[in-house]
Amino acid sequence: MKQADIVITTAKSAGFCFGVDRAVKLVYEALDAGKRVATLGPIVHNASVVNDLLERGARIISDVSELHDGETLIIRAHGVGRAVYEALDARGNEVIDATCPFVARIHRIVTEQTAAGRHILIAGDPTHPEIQGIVGHCTQNYTVFKDQTELKYLIDRTLPQRLALIAQTTYNKILWGECMKLLPSDDPDLLVFDTICNATAARQSDADALSKASDLMIVAGGRHSSNTVKLYDVCRRNCPTWHIEDPAELSALTAELCEAAQAALRAKPAESRILHIGITAGASTPAHIIKEVQTNMSEIIDTINTTPESEEFSFEAELEKSFRKIRKGDRVRGIVASISGNSEVMVDLGAKQTGYITLSELTTDTSKKPSDIVKVGDELDLVVIQVNDAEGTVQLSKRRVDELIGFETIKNAMESKEVLEGTVQSVVKGGLLASCNGVHVFIPASRSGLSRGADLSVLLKQNVRFIIVDVNEQRRRAVGSIRDVQFAERDAAKAKFWETAKVGDVFTGEVKSLTNYGAFVDLGGIDGMVHVSELSWSRIHQPSDVVAVGDTIEVFIKALNPETGRISLGHRRPEDNPWLKFLNGYHVGDVVEATVVSITAFGAFARITDGIDGLIHISQLSNERVANVKDVVSIGDTVTVKITAIDEEKKRISLSIRAVGEDAAEEEEQEAPVEAAEEVVYSDDAPAEAPAEDAAE
Ligand code: F3S
Repeated sequence: MKQADIVITTAKSAGFCFGVDRAVKLVYEALDAGKRVATLGPIVHNASVVNDLLERGARIISDVSELHDGETLIIRAHGVGRAVYEALDARGNEVIDATCPFVARIHRIVTEQTAAGRHILIAGDPTHPEIQGIVGHCTQNYTVFKDQTELKYLIDRTLPQRLALIAQTTYNKILWGECMKLLPSDDPDLLVFDTICNATAARQSDADALSKASDLMIVAGGRHSSNTVKLYDVCRRNCPTWHIEDPAELSALTAELCEAAQAALRAKPAESRILHIGITAGASTPAHIIKEVQTNMSEIIDTINTTPESEEFSFEAELEKSFRKIRKGDRVRGIVASISGNSEVMVDLGAKQTGYITLSELTTDTSKKPSDIVKVGDELDLVVIQVNDAEGTVQLSKRRVDELIGFETIKNAMESKEVLEGTVQSVVKGGLLASCNGVHVFIPASRSGLSRGADLSVLLKQNVRFIIVDVNEQRRRAVGSIRDVQFAERDAAKAKFWETAKVGDVFTGEVKSLTNYGAFVDLGGIDGMVHVSELSWSRIHQPSDVVAVGDTIEVFIKALNPETGRISLGHRRPEDNPWLKFLNGYHVGDVVEATVVSITAFGAFARITDGIDGLIHISQLSNERVANVKDVVSIGDTVTVKITAIDEEKKRISLSIRAVGEDAAEEEEQEAPVEAAEEVVYSDDAPAEAPAEDAAE
């Protein structure tokens, strides 16, 4: 067979997935940092990687109780159940959680759905560590099934009504499709979450397509690697397939492979005798293993005299081709794969490199954490600012893309006078810097909305609203004004007020300032005044006796003058008028308890109820002649009085102690004469001097 008659193709996606790559790197980083490292189970289903880590000092433990003091535990990409986290908390060892973000998402789903009362159906291998970790977040309320047969069995039997269905990240896509066909399409009590990882799905669909186009396939990866086993299952449906863990195994398979190759060629028409060999590898297979498979396959091809021309069969080149090239300055899209604490975001670019965004390249808003801005699974527009091929990392910036887009928004906002919102980041010379749409907007102190000389730092970290008054395109700088927004809003509020306000309207407003004659109240952008006499039914000396600046009070419009812009407000309400309350509750002839509140030469004022005082004329204090009021009563005394007169017009009340005594005497002695009532006075309008008739008496 001639060289040109053999074509070897590597699957587009093969080898380490993002989650495994990250986990392995974390172990190496911890070892490089001099930490004593233990992994909870092998970090990856690949003997060569695991052996290398063991040689460098890492330990593999199967239970948290095996941890040594001071050892750092690394949780592998499969994740663990809640109980393991609790045990680790109790032990206090340092923990590096390398749970793949896609697995962590499943943990969140099952936790939420279990809490929502759903029974969790899990498609996967119940013995696999990932499934054991997932069920550890389900609080017993779950069933694991392997395939559509087991699912049908479950569906035909009584299952709880409310179900949530998820899959192991490495579950076979084809089996998942079969399972979906068994489910009712419109059952609101059933929630389905497709949690099969894209890395797995991509490997499976690439492997499916490649194996359909190949005469034989080699699948490289650990025997215990679930996703490798599934790749093997997918491929062997389409063509003869061999699963190898170690490239050295290929030499033992030479005879089998030659035989399969010859059989495939014999089955082809003479004019199209080209042998297609496909190679794929599981997510836990490092790139060097794939290269070794290439080398060993070349030797086997030599053996069967079908050696391909080297330039046509460079596995390295094929592998490289399967990955996307990324260069500095490229605009790329990536998916947030994980968020590391407060410092950075890991991004899956669909490339062999790992993408990351530092906090300073994520946002200009220094008050925010990465998790305030993005969440796992978000798709982001990014720009590449650094590619490090040696480390396999790509530094990305979201901020710079946001700035470009944001500046356009800012320019448009200036034209349209749109009000923007931003957060004040810092106080700088002459003003403030606010972050808005990823752009720094300078707000001069004179446009901050604060009074001249005020402390600008009161606005730090505050959300503010402003319009853009100037932009400098070259320097990508914008100038904003909070004050203009405040003025515009105040004008709009005033216009609306004068359009709609009418006497009697009720407002709740803040007391903005006090004078001796009244309180100014903000009615929502416009101030009205409550005169001191309108603040209380009680006698007060100044507004501050009843309200303070900053108080929120209810007011109503008493009068409006659009020409002068004056708004007179009332605060005390008619229904609270103590005089009217008194008239409703008390009548001439009533005998009541009252408290002496002041004493004059002509009598004593006694309080009947709040704000209502009546006069007990000196002649009505006793049956005896009284020379001095103080001989009979003192301030604070409680006296029993009879209401002898109410002058509604003058708001005066006359009281008598003497009449109470006479009534009692009359009752006792069956005597009838009733003495005339003396003059009464309503406290607010009480005369400074005795009334004329009293004086005559
Ligand atoms: Fe994670 Fe998918 Fe790999 S779930 S560990 S990226 S196969």
